[in-house]
Amino acid sequence: MKKIAVLTSGGDSPGMNAAVRAVVRKGIYEGVEVHGVYQGYQGLVNDNIKKLELGDVGDIIQRGGTKLYSARCPEFIEPDVRKKAIANLQKRGIDSLVVIGGDGSYRGAQRLNEEGIKTVGVPGTIDNDINGTDYTIGFDTALNTIVDAVDRIRDTATSHERTFIVEVMGRDAGDLALWAGVAGGAETILIPESHSDIKEVAERIETGMKRGKKHSIIIVAEGVMTAAQCGEELRKYINIDTRESVLGHMQRGGKPTGSDRVLASRLGAYAVELLLNDVHGHAVGIEDNRLTRTSFDRVFEESHRIDEGLFRLSKELSI
Ligand code: F6P
Repeated sequence: MKKIAVLTSGGDSPGMNAAVRAVVRKGIYEGVEVHGVYQGYQGLVNDNIKKLELGDVGDIIQRGGTKLYSARCPEFIEPDVRKKAIANLQKRGIDSLVVIGGDGSYRGAQRLNEEGIKTVGVPGTIDNDINGTDYTIGFDTALNTIVDAVDRIRDTATSHERTFIVEVMGRDAGDLALWAGVAGGAETILIPESHSDIKEVAERIETGMKRGKKHSIIIVAEGVMTAAQCGEELRKYINIDTRESVLGHMQRGGKPTGSDRVLASRLGAYAVELLLNDVHGHAVGIEDNRLTRTSFDRVFEESHRIDEGLFRLSKELSI
């Protein structure tokens, strides 16, 4: 009987559980034995692996976080550390692995694949910054969490006629900031992919105030600067009282949206399908609503790009 393993790695994202469930159920449906690796690559090295049954993934589709736990494991870059991980799989007769995570997790997956474990990646990260897929699992949920927070902040911003700066996640990727900014009607969106001219932001706020605009929302991705720094920078050019909100890890939690659950279910099952057809060294994705696969090499070929059209639109709509 074919045996595969599944793990979740890196920053958790809502919908990872639905993806694990899909891998396990699709695997069992196809007559495969599925093993869960707990605590990501760390668990692979520490031999924290357990066979999963249908019931083990019951009642998790609606839960945020990951039942398999997650970890960042920088030492996985060491060949000797990976050797241990591979030995732990091989002694159980497991030759295939599904890695659910972001681009850091894909690097480990690519190496394991080169070293003899047939590996497929499933994009699980709130950042939406992985090539080869239009959306990553968890992005939609995190986006809606931010939009809900921005709507609430807007109520108080309007009442007190204030400028609010909302810091969202995204060290290198501005998708969350951009999409939340458009959906939340933010006046300014600052993302790592584009140069941020704070003087120009201050001038726009001033022009708006002269026109009678009394409040304003700025969304800043954490990779650009902190909300506090943004407030300080603004005050170099304009005399305003700002309030800052850092949404932090609340963006990573919560029950996944319906879209994330469906996406996770499709991608998890497709990963198993690929392994059963002896296709590996690829990441699965969804492009134009069709399931696709992209080799890890191609995923890493270029860095993820922001949707320039959406960024332009955000500026046009926030005049
Ligand atoms: O990659 C997901 C993410 O949530 C990023 O948006 C964020 O910069 C990072 O993880 C935070 O990581 P940690 O939880 O390890 O501090």
